[in-house]
Amino acid sequence: MSDSIPWWQSGVIYQIYPRSFQDSNGDGVGDLPGILQRLDYVCSLGVDAVWISPIYPSPMHDFGYDVADYTGIHPLFGTMDDFDQVLEAAHARGLRLILDLVPNHTSDEHPWFLESRSSRDNPKRDWYFWRDPKPDGGLPNNWRGAFGGPAWTFDPQTGQYYLHQFDPHQPELNYRNPEVLAAMLDAMRFWLDKGVDGFRVDVITMMIKDVALRDNPPNPEWDGVNPADSLKPVYSRNQPEVHEIVRAMRRLLDSYPGDRVLIGETWVRGEYLQYYGAALDECQLPFNFDLIRTPWTAHDVCAAVEYYEAGVPQGGWPNYVLGNHDQPRVASRVGANQARVAQMALLTLRGTPTCYYGDEIGMENVPIPPEFVQDPPAVRQPEIADAVGRDPERTPMQWDAGPNAGFSAQDATPWLPLAADYATRNVAMQERDSTSPLALFRALTDLRRSEPALAVGDYATVKTGVADIYAYTRTAPGCAGSLIVLNFGCEAHTLNLSAVGFRAEIALATELQRGGVVELAALNVAANEGLVLRLVR
Ligand code: NOJ
Repeated sequence: MSDSIPWWQSGVIYQIYPRSFQDSNGDGVGDLPGILQRLDYVCSLGVDAVWISPIYPSPMHDFGYDVADYTGIHPLFGTMDDFDQVLEAAHARGLRLILDLVPNHTSDEHPWFLESRSSRDNPKRDWYFWRDPKPDGGLPNNWRGAFGGPAWTFDPQTGQYYLHQFDPHQPELNYRNPEVLAAMLDAMRFWLDKGVDGFRVDVITMMIKDVALRDNPPNPEWDGVNPADSLKPVYSRNQPEVHEIVRAMRRLLDSYPGDRVLIGETWVRGEYLQYYGAALDECQLPFNFDLIRTPWTAHDVCAAVEYYEAGVPQGGWPNYVLGNHDQPRVASRVGANQARVAQMALLTLRGTPTCYYGDEIGMENVPIPPEFVQDPPAVRQPEIADAVGRDPERTPMQWDAGPNAGFSAQDATPWLPLAADYATRNVAMQERDSTSPLALFRALTDLRRSEPALAVGDYATVKTGVADIYAYTRTAPGCAGSLIVLNFGCEAHTLNLSAVGFRAEIALATELQRGGVVELAALNVAANEGLVLRLVR
């Protein structure tokens, strides 16, 4: 790949949820020495960067997204020395390391919050949102917590409410106070000085709230399930001033050598487009979750891609995410057959792919018996636990068919139950099977590396005339170019794609058993099949 193309543009990002990747000390929770042990596996996937969900000291009310010290390592995960070793070993293997930055809120045990809550005139009082009850004793506004209940908790010690839009243990920082941003930039500097390659910024859209904290209006599209969705976040997300904060973070990254990357956790279709910045001076990669949130049909996915292709600003670079620790696993959303098609889409569309650990072997959501449920939205709202709980997609990595799936020592109890199918769905078995999902994943990353058009080339939709089939080309000057044909349905089709070319060579098929040259005027595509075809000009 050309040196002028930054790694975050041509590369592939792999997300590790550290609690669930590899436990090295038998306490049932994954850790940094565990990640170190598995780095060669990560490299073998052909990915270019690892994003690790939070590893900082935390009381774990939201499994690390409640940070009590932005520049430390939670003893559960190891020591700072362990972290340094992971960073060094990653870099030695040519892998970049991205940390999760959680700037919107801290833990209620963070020293900043302890100070802030100690008295109304504490110098850090204004680092958080403290408000009096309404004259009638009511809550300061109608905002709701994403994990259930109102977004305000009353603190009897000082007689005011504090704001938290997730768990009550996650009070929100006030970025209208410049000291807060300065403190967060200092924390970022700490890691950048160590050589970390960037940050994935948690709920980046929420860092600034309406000055007057006005009530949010009702959400007319609410499906009646999760009360947190019953209001439109008009005054709690995407406030214009948030962009100044994002720009300050980006300026800091840009002041360091190397291509440090700022990834924003943006959620909603369209929202992500605002976070490139008017002068491309915000996130290089504002997350695009459309492959997760769009109904899995050829028509809907094509429409989502076309919308995105038309919207990404000139000079901005797209990205796609297929799964993460907050969303049902892709294999459970679309089924095992279509999960292969989805991986092919993720790794061949124009944009940086982000892959969630375990999806490369087709891990599925694991049903969690009520007594093992741990995720705060599910614990706090048992009546809608199935709809809001995220434990099913966070279960331990399935390494082999041995005790505890190779995740943890034989006599350990993993923090979440293992999948029932781990003896038949695991890395060791799939390494021996040349048609496994793992083999497909590796073949896709190999192909991206060998064909620059797939990594960085242009995108164009190809009309197929078949409702279940979505096709597109990826082309770059001086390259043969690729045609990708994805069958979202369970019927075979013969397509006439002669408008694209006469002949093509099958570079990769999702079932990994097809090759050879094909005539594009009569291209056979099997049910649930995806093909990457190298165009023969
Ligand atoms: C988004 C994170 O991905 C999620 O896991 C977390 O619960 C919330 N932000 C709050 O930090």
